[in-house]
Amino acid sequence: QATSIPADRVPDMGKRQLMNLLLLGAISLPSGFMLVPYAAFFVPSGGRGTGGGTVAKDAIGNDVIAEEWLKTHGPGDRTLTQGLKVNPTYLVVEKDRTLATYGINAVCTHLGCVVPWNQAENKFICPCHGSQYNDQGRVVRGPAPLSLALAHAGVEDGKVVFVPWVETDFRTGDAPWWS
Ligand code: FES
Repeated sequence: QATSIPADRVPDMGKRQLMNLLLLGAISLPSGFMLVPYAAFFVPSGGRGTGGGTVAKDAIGNDVIAEEWLKTHGPGDRTLTQGLKVNPTYLVVEKDRTLATYGINAVCTHLGCVVPWNQAENKFICPCHGSQYNDQGRVVRGPAPLSLALAHAGVEDGKVVFVPWVETDFRTGDAPWWS
C-alpha cells in the first residue's frame, strides 16, 4: 500500500481522528460563535423584571400598583390604563374584587376610535359609529368586525403587568386576530 506519510509517523487511526477533529473544528467553531449572539437575540431581556411584559400606567403615567388600584376601583370597574405598545387598555376588576387576568384593548376594531365603557349599559359603546362590545370586549353589534383585542394581566412585584395574548380568544374560541 502506497502512502505519502510513513505509517510509523501517522498511524491510520490517528490520522483519521485528526482529520475528523479538524473537520469538526472547521465547522463548529465559527458556527458556535455565531450561535451565541443569535440565541441571545431571542431571549427576552426581562427589563425591569417583567419577563417581557409591560407595566400598566395610570392616567397620569404612574405604574399601576394592584393593591392601591383595588382600593379605589370597585367590583365591575373598567378603567383605562396604558398597556402594551402604549395601547389604551382596560383593567378589569371582577365582581369578587380581584383583578381580571385579562385586559381589554380599547381600540375599536372598526376604524380605531377609543371605545368608552358604559357602566349603565354594561357594554363598551363606540361613539364613532355605534359598535358595541359586551363587558369582556366581545363584539355584539357592528359595524366593528371583530372583538376588542386581549392582553394578559398579572401582578409582578405588586405592579400590574400586561403580557401579549397569543392563545385562543376565550370569548370566541378563535385564534387571536391581533397576534
Ligand atoms: Fe368604532 Fe367605527 S370606529 S364603530
